[in-house]
Amino acid sequence: VQLAGHEAAHMAEGARIAAGEGADIIDINMGCPAKKVTGGYAGSALMRDLDHALWLIEAVVGTVEVPVTVKMRLGWDESALNAPMLARRAEQAGVKMVTVHGRTRCQFYQGKADWRAIARIKQAVSIPVVANGDVGSPAEAAMILDQSGADAVMIGRAHYGAPWTAGSIAAAAAKDAAPGVPESPQALADYIVAHYEDMLTLYGIESGVRQARKHLGWYLDRHAAGVVDEQRKAILTCFEPARVIAALREVFSRAAEAMNLRSAA
Ligand SMILES: Cc1cc2nc3c(=O)[nH]c(=O)nc-3n(C[C@H](O)[C@H](O)[C@H](O)COP(=O)(O)O)c2cc1C
Repeated sequence: VQLAGHEAAHMAEGARIAAGEGADIIDINMGCPAKKVTGGYAGSALMRDLDHALWLIEAVVGTVEVPVTVKMRLGWDESALNAPMLARRAEQAGVKMVTVHGRTRCQFYQGKADWRAIARIKQAVSIPVVANGDVGSPAEAAMILDQSGADAVMIGRAHYGAPWTAGSIAAAAAKDAAPGVPESPQALADYIVAHYEDMLTLYGIESGVRQARKHLGWYLDRHAAGVVDEQRKAILTCFEPARVIAALREVFSRAAEAMNLRSAA
């Protein structure tokens, strides 16, 4: 479970509750760039005040038995690339692993993640370092590991419309067959419908139909870019699951792009 916050007592209490509910790891968010988070001096804003960041880390580490990890960026901006210092101090405080997104806060998601810069964090600590940013293929995963010297890769946005991505990259690294990658348009349609139905089960129909739309949009963008606007709009606005499912089957069962699933992963 990841926690974001600014007050040590609140973070410690959140960690205690999460661990009590069975969390295996508590991760502290020191990477989120969003103004509504940094405005509360949380997320990546903590990188502007490492003493305060350490106060939070020590409070959480001192509260839970499970491993505590930290997610960070390279720093607040180009003039303050202090992730190596934060990582080293976090390690000294008992943090067991750090994940580094190779951008500064002020970059938000612009430009390209600097994979080589993550090497400076790796060199600063002896705990495992996870490298993150702009990885979406086995080749990119190999490159970020090579350039950063990191111990593992974290993958985010490449999962939009392709939730099997991490599994297929891990399988490629192990020279195994990729698990769960839909191999045909029919299999892709089944996969997407199953995802949709799972979301309706998890959230209930009223909330589920709304929450599923961003995923359906990503599937459409990625595998059915040629779908006509009207059909796309119908899928993304309809409140009747049976009609959404019928439209999904129609679109994805015949999506030519679906034949390129493996290269898309
Ligand atoms: C919509 C969105 C939500 C995110 N939420 C979180 C979050 O809650 N915690 C976190 O540590 N990182 C969060 N991130 C950042 C990602 O974990 C990751 O660092 C970033 O997207 C770069 O990796 P990528 O290029 O593989 O996507 C979020 C990113 C996006 C795009």
